[in-house]
Amino acid sequence: MSRPAVLVARAVFPETVARLREHFDVEDNPGDIIFTKPQLIERLHGKAGAFTTGSERIDAQVLDANPQLRVVANMAVGYNNFDVEACTARGVLATNTPDVLTETTADFGFALMMATARRMAESEHFLRRGEWTRWAYDMFTGSDVHGATLGILGMGRIGQAIARRGALGFGMKVIYHNRSRLAAEQEAPLGARYVDKATLLREADHLVLVLPYSASSHHAIGAAELAQMKPTATLTNVARGGIVDDAALAVALRERRIAAAGLDVFEGEPQVHPDLLTLPNVVLTPHIASATVATRRAMAELAADNLIAALSGGKPPAPINPQVLPLRPA
Ligand code: GLV
Repeated sequence: MSRPAVLVARAVFPETVARLREHFDVEDNPGDIIFTKPQLIERLHGKAGAFTTGSERIDAQVLDANPQLRVVANMAVGYNNFDVEACTARGVLATNTPDVLTETTADFGFALMMATARRMAESEHFLRRGEWTRWAYDMFTGSDVHGATLGILGMGRIGQAIARRGALGFGMKVIYHNRSRLAAEQEAPLGARYVDKATLLREADHLVLVLPYSASSHHAIGAAELAQMKPTATLTNVARGGIVDDAALAVALRERRIAAAGLDVFEGEPQVHPDLLTLPNVVLTPHIASATVATRRAMAELAADNLIAALSGGKPPAPINPQVLPLRPA
C-alpha cells in the first residue's frame, strides 16, 4: 500500500521532517518559501496531510481544490489561519499545539509587560545612542509591576499562567474578563476577580491580551477602549494581530492617553504600522512569545504527533474539530 503524502509547508526542525518521513512521503520546504495561495493549492495536490504554521491560510478555496486532503496540523496554538467550519464541513481534521507552549508564552508575556512598564527598550536604545551622560532623578521612570493591578483579557491557559506569575510572584491584584468565568477553585489561588470589560479597562494598571483572534475579537481594543484606560496604564499583546487596532493604538501612545505598549503581534505582520516604529513608548518584538528551543521543538513534535496519529487511524492528541473523527477513508 502506498504511503500517504504530506506537505510540510514551512521549514522546520530536520528531526521532525525525518520523523515524518518514517510514516509519509514528505514534500518539505527547506528553503522556507512562503507560498502564495495558488502555490499552496498546487503543493497540496495529492497530499493527505499538511503540516502548517500561521502563515498558511487553509480555507474553502484551498480545501475544494484539494478534496483528497484529510488533516491539517498547525504548529501553533492559535488557528485563526484555518477556516475550521470549512474543514469540518468537508470532513478535514484540523489540529493545533496547545499546552506545550503555555508556560513559555506566559514567561514572554510577563517579560514584555515588565519591559513595557519599566521602559527597558526605550532606555536601552538611549544608551546605545550614546546619550547616557549622567544620572537624573526622573530618568526613564516607569510604573511598578509588583503590587499593581494586572488585567487579563482572555483567561485561558496562557492567561491563567500569566496571572499566576503576577499574583504569586509579584503580589499583583488580578482582574480578568473572559467569555466564561473560571471556577471558584481556579480563581481562589490567584485571588482573581472576574469583571466586565469596562471595569477591566478602567482598573488595570497593566492590561495583557491573551484571547484568540476571531471576527468577534477583531479590534477588541480600539480607540474607544483605549480611551477608557488609565493614562498611566500599559497594554501588552501576545495574542494575535488584529485584536488591537494598531492605528488607534499609535495615536493613543503618541498622545500619551496610555503610557506604553508591548506588542509581539501586529495587524498584517510581518508588516508593522509605520507610526508604531517611530514611537519611543512601545516595545516591539517579532511574534516570538513561544520561541524557546525546547518549546518550538515540543510544538513541532506535537504537530507531527497529530499528523501521524490522524493519518494512521489513531487518536490525535490535539484535535480542534474532533467531530470529524474517525477520518474519512482515503
Ligand atoms: C503562536 O502565535 C501560536 O499561536 O502558537
